[in-house]
Amino acid sequence: ECTERKELWTEKHVLKHLPTRQPHVHKGTNGKALLIGGSREMTGAVMLSAKAALRSGAGLLTVAVPDVIHSIVATHLLEAMYLPCATKKDHFQGELAIDFGRFDAVAVGPGMGRTAGGQKVVGEVLQQRVPVVLDADALFHVTELMLLLKERKEPTVLTPHSGEMARLCGISIEDVEEKRFELSKQFAVEYGVYLVLKGPFTIVTTPRGEQFVNPTGNAGLAKGGSGDVLTGMILAFIMQYTSVQAAVSNAVFVHGKAADLLLEGKHTHTDIIATDVIEKIPNALKLFQ
Ligand code: APR
Ligand code: MG
Repeated sequence: ECTERKELWTEKHVLKHLPTRQPHVHKGTNGKALLIGGSREMTGAVMLSAKAALRSGAGLLTVAVPDVIHSIVATHLLEAMYLPCATKKDHFQGELAIDFGRFDAVAVGPGMGRTAGGQKVVGEVLQQRVPVVLDADALFHVTELMLLLKERKEPTVLTPHSGEMARLCGISIEDVEEKRFELSKQFAVEYGVYLVLKGPFTIVTTPRGEQFVNPTGNAGLAKGGSGDVLTGMILAFIMQYTSVQAAVSNAVFVHGKAADLLLEGKHTHTDIIATDVIEKIPNALKLFQ
């Protein structure tokens, strides 16, 4: 069942696994994505993910946010559609009442916060028969929902940084840093998920235990919001690719490459912000045209 495959995911791999685009596409063929996140404290995270998804080829994007922030988010992002959801104390109240059958992929987590309502939302998402990406606060909630995670039939992608991985595994961050490969593999195989352990040399592990290491990216990404950008990119890519692993690895590669291009231009590690990374996604994608 479990393989020993461990490889560097290079530019060559990215090129080899690009999706083929038909000239006669319409917005529906590029995928209908649903992004769920946000709270009154964190309006930016979900906007960053949404913009990144749109810059990465999502055909139609719907953003579900607590209705208390709907107007703020909608004002800043004209290309998306919105599902304003019930708010309780500045966060998701809990019941989404969304028809998930309309979507090809769902991402949940950015900026949603750590309330009981958020946990309900993540639980509802996990029970849907659609590919799901879990990030940020959704990873906080998933520790209470591990049975639902295990029961899923459709692909599930988790994108923890070392701190989130530590909490998922119930160990210290130091222990995660020491055993990044082993832990990723154990977790991915046990729960049947694609695990993206972020940081310098992000490791993508498949449910079968194959591992792919990403060489791109730099310390300019160590800023609030860059993880949210990656989530949007993964959401868009998994709808366009047949292989989830290729989609995730390519998203991680292009995300890092965009940050590397910023360093080749006018930027330094110090001044890079997540919005700059989104703006370089087109240049990074163009390298593979
Ligand atoms: N080299 C290469 N890549 C890096 C580096 C580095 N030195 N530092 C960070 N990155 C990349 C990671 O691989 C990842 O893709 O930047 C991204 C950072 O993602 P996150 O750690 O999720 O950071 P961010 O989105 O800013 O989120 C911070 O997330 O979970 C919450 O509580 C957490 O509030 C915090 C927030
Ligand atoms: Mg994050």
